[in-house]
Amino acid sequence: MDKELQRTINELHIYEKKILKALKELGYEATPEKISKFQDMDIKAVMSAAGSLESKNLIEVHKVTDEVISLSQTGKKYAKEGLPERKILLLLEREESVPMGQIKEKAQLENSEVKIAIGWLLKKKWASIEKGVVKITPEGERAVNEEYKDEALLDKLLEKQKLLLFNPPQIIKEGFDILKKRKGLIHIKKEPKYTLKLTNKGRKLLEMGFDITEEATQLTHEQLKTGSWKSLKYRGYDIKAEHPDFYPGKKHPLRRIIKEIRKTFLEMGFTESRGTILESAFWNFDCLFQPQDHAAREMQDTFYIKNPKNVQLPGTDLVAKVADAHETGGGTGSEGWGYIWNIDVAKQAVLRTHTTCVSARFLAENSPPLKMFSVGRVFRRETITYKHLPEFHQVEGIVASEDINFRNLLGILKEFYHKLGFEVRFRPAYFPYTYLSTECEIYLPEKESWVELGGAGMFRPEVLEPLGVETPVAAFGLGIERLALKQLEINDIRMLYKSDIGWLRKLPITKGISLDE
Ligand code: DAH
Repeated sequence: MDKELQRTINELHIYEKKILKALKELGYEATPEKISKFQDMDIKAVMSAAGSLESKNLIEVHKVTDEVISLSQTGKKYAKEGLPERKILLLLEREESVPMGQIKEKAQLENSEVKIAIGWLLKKKWASIEKGVVKITPEGERAVNEEYKDEALLDKLLEKQKLLLFNPPQIIKEGFDILKKRKGLIHIKKEPKYTLKLTNKGRKLLEMGFDITEEATQLTHEQLKTGSWKSLKYRGYDIKAEHPDFYPGKKHPLRRIIKEIRKTFLEMGFTESRGTILESAFWNFDCLFQPQDHAAREMQDTFYIKNPKNVQLPGTDLVAKVADAHETGGGTGSEGWGYIWNIDVAKQAVLRTHTTCVSARFLAENSPPLKMFSVGRVFRRETITYKHLPEFHQVEGIVASEDINFRNLLGILKEFYHKLGFEVRFRPAYFPYTYLSTECEIYLPEKESWVELGGAGMFRPEVLEPLGVETPVAAFGLGIERLALKQLEINDIRMLYKSDIGWLRKLPITKGISLDE
């Protein structure tokens, strides 16, 4: 306990210490005003330090609401000039009786004041009215040299400006009762009044004792240079203190995951390549030995572009070889698809449906051995569901060398997924451009099902021969959003595109990414 108190002492601000000391001197309880005077502190500083002392349980802050009275503009005027009935009384002292009609002028009253003045004159029994003539009474004569209760309060208010009604009462009760009834002379305002009281813990802390010394808050260049900072006194910090939530700007989680994937492939010795989102059907389909009547090419699966409608094809040599592969199998020993290949179909502009076209382009321009990956957006006409979007990201890759085989491909994928923290399983699959082919899947416990992440396989000779590649090529293309599902612990990929600011703010930046980022 003592240790804890000692820590509390070390964390006290100098203002808090001053308040505690003042409370000790002022009988363990005092108003902020008193403390502010006693320690020569600004009242605001007292209040804010009192708040933090209260949160540490060292003092209690009691609040009572009092009423404060002060003079209005008219009130001030009467306090200085005298009330209108007093003016009449002074007139009557001089003239004894005055006809009603002359009162206003002789007593120098305003129109609006006459009625009220006469009313109070009678109420205070200073005069009587008989047959239209106002006459001073004996009581009035006595009152000439005496302040009435309401006048006494007006005077006091003029001097003090403010008086408390209850705590403690500073008013003249009878005077207040009268002034309250007179319209527009005084303001009555509710005002909170505080009392600071030491708690037992506060007393104990005072018993342990502490000094009030200046503490270093901001170090100066000079103090650092000369080393004088070593002898300064510092206040302890409570690092467990409550703090407001703070949400600094950060990268979108999907971008972070993409960055992580990029880093993983770079670490595995791959080079990065990029393609374009607008692609010809040639690179997206034909080059990958996808027949021109293949279902995936249908309008309901692929977005075709109106403008530009067509995209220029590469040199005729490659186009002719691709045509050959489709029609007869070319020099591959295969029979091809056995139909008449149409160049106009190949020229059509599409939003790429996968990033595999980037691999085809890369193979056309580079010779093995090589390892390449690319990350990018792809587009498909999909109905939106928790695992389908019409626009998403893929990471694509190829490894081309004399001795690469299907087993190596599975090894590469396993390693990649392990690095990201996933277990995968492989299933046999079919793609027009690969043989052998496989699909990778990860398990989603929340959905109690396996989701497909992407495909992979060894590029077929019908793909490689036209491109002039003579070594085997292992290839893969993997969806990224579905990876994010597990990494971000969400069960709907739409979350990634929702801009749900609450979710984004709360998402730790370490989610889905290694810590050395
Ligand atoms: N392009 C396929 C898709 O989008 C994935 C794929 C399968 C890519 C096999 C490949 C591959 O490179 O060899 O579903």
